[in-house]
Amino acid sequence: MAVDVLLGLQWGDEGKGKIVDHLSDRYHAICRFQGGPNAGHTIKIGKDKHVLHTIPSGVFRPDTMNVVGSGVVIDPITFQGEIEGLQRSGLDCTPNLYISRKAHLILPTHRYLDAASEAQKGAKKIGSTLRGIGPTYMDKTGRNGLRVGDITQSDFKKRYQSLKNKHLKLASIYPEIEFNLQEEEAKWFTAIDRLMKLQLIDCEYFINDLLKNGKNILAEGAQGSMLDITYGTYPYVTSSNTTTAGVCTGLGVPPSSINKVIGITKAYCTRVGSGPFPTELFDEIGEKLMEEGKEYGATTGRARRCGWIDIPQLKYVVMLNGVTELVITKLDVLSVLDSFNAGMFYSLNNGEKSEQLPFDPENQIRDIDYRTFQGWKNDISQVKSFSDLPEQATSFVQFLEKELNVPVKMISIGPERTQTILMD
Ligand code: GDP
Ligand code: IMO
Ligand code: MG
Repeated sequence: MAVDVLLGLQWGDEGKGKIVDHLSDRYHAICRFQGGPNAGHTIKIGKDKHVLHTIPSGVFRPDTMNVVGSGVVIDPITFQGEIEGLQRSGLDCTPNLYISRKAHLILPTHRYLDAASEAQKGAKKIGSTLRGIGPTYMDKTGRNGLRVGDITQSDFKKRYQSLKNKHLKLASIYPEIEFNLQEEEAKWFTAIDRLMKLQLIDCEYFINDLLKNGKNILAEGAQGSMLDITYGTYPYVTSSNTTTAGVCTGLGVPPSSINKVIGITKAYCTRVGSGPFPTELFDEIGEKLMEEGKEYGATTGRARRCGWIDIPQLKYVVMLNGVTELVITKLDVLSVLDSFNAGMFYSLNNGEKSEQLPFDPENQIRDIDYRTFQGWKNDISQVKSFSDLPEQATSFVQFLEKELNVPVKMISIGPERTQTILMD
């Protein structure tokens, strides 16, 4: 069988957790392929709200396997915290949880370096989640990292000490920050002992065997395509490949195994952290979207910047990812507006109008040409079928389909599993 991919088409927080949870009973395995505890995927089931950081969003289905793939970076402390949080809510996810031996470990000193590096950048900071993501991927590509499979090796502690010492030397180039290393280290080693008892796998064999045996797999993206290390708004990005290409390296599957690519976009746009955001709103409409959409980070609690949906930006990532179907989330949030916009063209500083994202969006985009849509001003959060949506809403969805040349398969009108409209 094949690997379907689900990923965010903007700067993250598009509602991936909700949609993966919704789809997960159609798949044998849900697999995270990149990122780490910088992700915050929210799943609301009745009164319960869960925020998952490293654990895949298929854990609420009893028969679905959940794989933390080789491209992921794991902080054993956060990971243990997540497992325990789920246990407190009555769910033991460990029997269905598999972790790649090739996934890299986030050390306490990676978090320290992340915070110290951001402190040094001052006003130019990335706005990192401070989960140690950048420094861990740096050690991975620098060929210094420690992997989950190393935990069982006899020289693990020695290698840990040597990497830690290197980090401490490196830290001397940064401003000093508060960090209780001893305390964090003690927690980390306790969490390592627990991690060792979980089901560790050779991810590439495990997943290819599932495929050979006719199983369906969903690769769950973290972050969004605009945060991709290469194709995102560099340097204001994360440190992994968040696009479809990352699935192959992150899970160890060939490109030919990939079938559907499900791209998720909000009906508007948000970004948390620094960096270019061409259609950002700085007025009371932006505030309204933030309030109505409850746009506060699931991992850090930071307010998300809000703006209009950006068609050239979406065309760019549809192209990069080979998106075959679209999911539109948070359409209900637009219900509070009399009218709303979609960015159609960028007016560049050289006088040209462009549908292409320029190399340096911050300094090359002068203005945006918008198309305005009439709002509907009705509560749509309980609507069950596409034909029951107000005409203004259906024509906006059809507009997106036509502009992006990709069919919309699902519309989300609230955080609950049930607040989902299927198109066929
Ligand atoms: P993710 O990182 O892509 O999984 O998204 P987050 O969980 O960080 O942020 C999405 C937020 O929007 C969460 O609080 C969800 O519960 C919520 N959400 C998801 N879909 C919808 C929707 O269609 N409407 C509304 N109002 N909220 C939604
Ligand atoms: P999910 O999976 C939104 C952003 C951070 C920062 C930049 C780099 O929930 O959509 P990092 O900690 O990776 O070094 O931060 O990326 N960022 C996210 N923004 N959603 C996320 O994940 C994010 N993960 C990282 O805010 O701007
Ligand atoms: Mg999130």
